[in-house]
Amino acid sequence: MSLRNCRNVKVLDVVPVGQSKRPGEFFEIKLEYPDWDGWKPGQFVMIRPVSWDLEIVWGRPFSISSVGDGSLTLFIQKVGRGTSRLAQLKPGDEVAIWGPLGNGFAVEPERPTLLLAGGIGIAPFRGYVENHAGPENLKLFLAHRVPLECYPYDSLSRTVECESMMERTPEDLQRIIARLHELVAEYAERDGLILCCGPTPFMRTVQSAAAEAGTRAQLSLENRMGCGVGACLGCVTKDGSGHNVQVCTRGPVFWSDNVEL
Ligand SMILES: Cc1cc2nc3c(=O)[nH]c(=O)nc-3n(C[C@H](O)[C@H](O)[C@H](O)COP(=O)(O)OP(=O)(O)OC[C@H]3O[C@@H](n4cnc5c(N)ncnc54)[C@H](O)[C@@H]3O)c2cc1C
Ligand code: FES
Repeated sequence: MSLRNCRNVKVLDVVPVGQSKRPGEFFEIKLEYPDWDGWKPGQFVMIRPVSWDLEIVWGRPFSISSVGDGSLTLFIQKVGRGTSRLAQLKPGDEVAIWGPLGNGFAVEPERPTLLLAGGIGIAPFRGYVENHAGPENLKLFLAHRVPLECYPYDSLSRTVECESMMERTPEDLQRIIARLHELVAEYAERDGLILCCGPTPFMRTVQSAAAEAGTRAQLSLENRMGCGVGACLGCVTKDGSGHNVQVCTRGPVFWSDNVEL
C-alpha cells in the first residue's frame, strides 16, 4: 500500500442498525469515498478518528461493506473501547483511513457460490453481493444470535437467495453446525465455491466440513491488528505449512486448507 492510500476523510453519517439487548450495538458509518483506484470485496480498511488524539493509539480494521455514490460504508458491532468511540462520531468529523488492504474473496460469477456468515461476518458479503456479475448464482446463509434486523439481511435477500438461523440455545447451535455441514456438502457436489466470514469456532466448522467434503472454501480471518500493513506483526497466524504469516497482508482471506485456526 502506498502513502497515497492513507488520507483524512469526513464522516458523512453514523446510523444505528436494528435493536439488540445492548442499545446501539450495531451501526453503519458512511465516509467520504477516499478516491482510490479500486477495491475488492473482502478487502478491509484501517480507520483512526483524528479525535482519538493520543488516547487510543492504534487504528481499527473493518471490512469494506459497501461503496457507492461517493461514499464508503462500514458496518460495525460495538465490542470495546475503539468501536464505542466510533459509534459517537458525528457527520463532519475527520478520520484517517488507510486501504484498501489485504486480498479479497475469489469471484467466479458462473459458479454456484455459498456465502457463510456468522453474525457481523456478514459485513464483507454486502459488497460481494452488490458487485457480483451473477447474483442468481449466490446464496447467503447467516447464523446469528441477535435479531435479524441488526444485520443488512433484508436488503441482501431482495437480491440473492438467503437463509438464516438464530442461535438461542445449545440445541440451536447443534442445528446450525448440522446445516453448515449440509450446505457445504451440497455445494461440494455442485463443484461450487464456498466463502466464509465469522467467529473462529464458526469458521472451524466450515473448515472441517470443507475438508470432509474435499471442496474448496475461503475463510476471512478477523485477527486483532495494529498497523494493517505488515509492519507490527500483531496479526500473525500460521499457514497450512505451519509458517507464520501476517493476516493483514497475506489475508485476511485464506483458502481453508492453507491456514490454521
Ligand atoms: C480484516 C478485519 C475485518 C473486520 N471487519 C469488521 C467489520 O466489518 N465489522 C466489525 O464490527 N468488526 C470487524 N472486525 C473486528 C474489529 O476490528 C474489532 O471488533 C475491533 O477492532 C474491536 O475494537 P475495540 O477497540 O472496540 O475493541 P477492544 O477494546 O480492542 O476489544 C474489546 C473486545 O473485542 C475483542 N476484539 C478485539 N479485536 C477483535 C477482532 N479483530 N476480532 C474479534 N474480536 C476482537 C477483544 O478480544 C475484546 O473482547 C474486523 C477485523 C479484521 C481483522
Ligand atoms: S497488523 Fe501489523 S503486521 Fe498485520
